[in-house]
Amino acid sequence: MRKLTPELLDHLPHDDPGAVRSRRDLARINRFMGNNSWIIRSVGKSPSHITEIGAGDGILLSKLSKLHPGAQINAYDLAPKPADLLKKANWHRGDILTQTPPEQGGVLIANLFLHHFTDEQLRVFTPWLQGFDTILINEPLRAKLPQLLAKAALPFIHSITRHDMRVSIEAGFIPGEIPLLLGLKDMGFELQETTTWSGSIRIIAKQSPI
Ligand SMILES: C[S@@+](CC[C@H](N)C(=O)[O-])C[C@H]1O[C@@H](n2cnc3c(N)ncnc32)[C@H](O)[C@@H]1O
Repeated sequence: MRKLTPELLDHLPHDDPGAVRSRRDLARINRFMGNNSWIIRSVGKSPSHITEIGAGDGILLSKLSKLHPGAQINAYDLAPKPADLLKKANWHRGDILTQTPPEQGGVLIANLFLHHFTDEQLRVFTPWLQGFDTILINEPLRAKLPQLLAKAALPFIHSITRHDMRVSIEAGFIPGEIPLLLGLKDMGFELQETTTWSGSIRIIAKQSPI
């Protein structure tokens, strides 16, 4: 069963020194797990619109906007728009559950984001998802090996990251859970779901051709 515990990073001011350190750890964790490179590879050739929910520091979107200069970029997060990244992005600050999705579809990305929400909250994400052609999801795999790897990383990461990494895995997912909770198959998406040894569960959802 998923266990949800509030993450410390979500409740700290954006410029708190601990939050800054923990976001740096997160960037290293994304690199170690190969998350951003998997998303970059999976985005496709020339998307017209790219939207990321829970965009954090905007590092991934910044890379994608350089690789796809013609794409319109939308970002959603509780955090403010990063000052030096993503000048051309439409940044929507606030709780995702109170925001409306962009009108045009394109690619939607959720990287280490959906595990913040309860099963009930995930079930109300449907209006968010149905307009997109492709949805790329990368979340923590709820399993023993990722918990062991997280323990091995403890000496190298900030105390906030130590807490948040453990609770993220406890709130993570096992295969089959995300499509069911989000109702992806009912919305007509074709799904590919994979897991990695380093603790990711990954989904590529594409609208079936009519
Ligand atoms: C674990 S971080 C991941 C950030 C980024 N995707 C990455 O991989 O570096 C989760 C992000 O979700 C954002 N977040 C959490 N709850 C949110 C909510 N209800 N609405 C919008 N953003 C939220 C946080 O501010 C944070 O930036």
